[in-house]
Amino acid sequence: MFYKSIRFKISIVYMAILALTLSAFSVVLYHQVSKSLYENMDTLLRSRAEGIVSAMSTYWVTERLGTMRYYDTGDQVMAGNDQLNFATVAQRWVEARSKDPKLLNLIVQIFDATGEIVASSKNTQGITSVSEQTLFAALQGRSTFDTLTSSYPTKKVQLFRVFITPAVQNDRVEYIVQVGTPIDSITNALNSLKLTLFILFPITVLITGVMGAFLAKMTLQPVNNMIRTIHDITVENMKMKLNIPNTKDEIQKLAETFNDMLARLEYAFTSQRHLFEDLSHELKTPLTILKGEFEVVLKKMRSAEEYEAILRSSLEEIDKMTRLVENLLMLASFESKRIMPERKMLDLSLLIESVTTNMKKVAERKNVRISLEVKKYVEVIGDEKELRQLFLNILDNAVKYTGEGGRINISVEKDNNNATIVIKDSGVGIPQDEIEHIFDRFYRVHGTRKSYGFGLGLSIVKAIVDAHNGSIKVTSSHGTGTSFVITLPLH
Ligand SMILES: Nc1ncnc2c1ncn2[C@@H]1O[C@H](COP(=O)(O)OP(=O)(O)O)[C@@H](O)[C@H]1O
Ligand SMILES: [Mg+2]
Repeated sequence: MFYKSIRFKISIVYMAILALTLSAFSVVLYHQVSKSLYENMDTLLRSRAEGIVSAMSTYWVTERLGTMRYYDTGDQVMAGNDQLNFATVAQRWVEARSKDPKLLNLIVQIFDATGEIVASSKNTQGITSVSEQTLFAALQGRSTFDTLTSSYPTKKVQLFRVFITPAVQNDRVEYIVQVGTPIDSITNALNSLKLTLFILFPITVLITGVMGAFLAKMTLQPVNNMIRTIHDITVENMKMKLNIPNTKDEIQKLAETFNDMLARLEYAFTSQRHLFEDLSHELKTPLTILKGEFEVVLKKMRSAEEYEAILRSSLEEIDKMTRLVENLLMLASFESKRIMPERKMLDLSLLIESVTTNMKKVAERKNVRISLEVKKYVEVIGDEKELRQLFLNILDNAVKYTGEGGRINISVEKDNNNATIVIKDSGVGIPQDEIEHIFDRFYRVHGTRKSYGFGLGLSIVKAIVDAHNGSIKVTSSHGTGTSFVITLPLH
């Protein structure tokens, strides 16, 4: 399902984010550009209009002075003709400036105080008057901006931006200047900006989508490879490993973690397989012995003593099998976490002394000496049966893996919080690289398989220590001995 794949989701999200950002960006850009274009235009119009007013006033004054001189010499003062003269003067001024590059493309118009047009540049483009409100404002001495439409009925309607400013002399509005320009240039620029954005928008979003999908595909390629490999892994070929990409990223982590898990699983499966082998072996040997003995016995009548001897040796074999089954049951119950320790205050010193007494007989048979250094009244809360089992298993190992004439030392100490039990032997020791495994179920150190055992003792020990919130540590050197340090909380 492509649309459910991460690749698809990533590209969609990429595209959505980009589309959003681009939209916001485009709106802001368009707005800013349009604002600054209009502002520029207004600034230009205002400065041109003001320039015209000041130039025109100077011009008008000089013209008038010249005329008056003429009138003076002719002894005639032609009052009342100012208006007419101003119109001529203004029109002349405007025409003279028609080539001025500063005024090129600008509509320049001059109105008198009644709003009648008195002078105008050639390119009026249909603008012939000044609007009523702006005239009103100008008569009050205010300058204003306005937007006008062309009045050519045949042509397409055009918009013009105009600035109107009055020329004021002695509190009287002498004339009004209107400077304008078509808005076309701005709308054209804005339209082409809009078009560019509209074209760029989908292209950019599409490219991002494709790139996103491509990137995601590249990133997820190792995951897909992993999926394919994992698909082929079965219980039979658990040795198979994922190729670890050297990318130092989450994918590498994932592959490593998965390989770790595979290793753990493989180990568990191998342990189980060993269990089956060991179990069958351990059960088969006593059964074969029993069968053989019984067959021999049944061949003819025996004396009572002979029967007793046979029965005794049979019982030993049966005991062995019973112990195996018991161990298995114990472990099984730990595995299902059914047993919660029965909590009771008990004296660890007494308990360990009693376990040691039980073990002494076996130890003596091997000429192994057990010595005790036990502090009195080390009281912990726990399950007596379980704690007894714990020390029994460790001592059993200590005796089992210590040769003739060896020594075992047991000490019990306590501090404010913990009881510490150290069981040290002078036995065969455990190879360094196997120490980490000895608490695993069914694990037996290579080479110890000859001696009796199922590799369950220490797993049971670990489970009991954990259930009592304690800890267990092993130090061992191959050939010189092992010590187990167990700490149990006092309260
Ligand atoms: N005191 C010890 N000295 C040497 N090796 C030990 C000692 N205790 C445990 N081991 C090693 O740890 C393994 C696991 O112990 P355990 O679970 O009790 O299994 P088992 O005693 O049935 O072999 C043993 O097979 C043995 O090789
Ligand atoms: Mg053991």
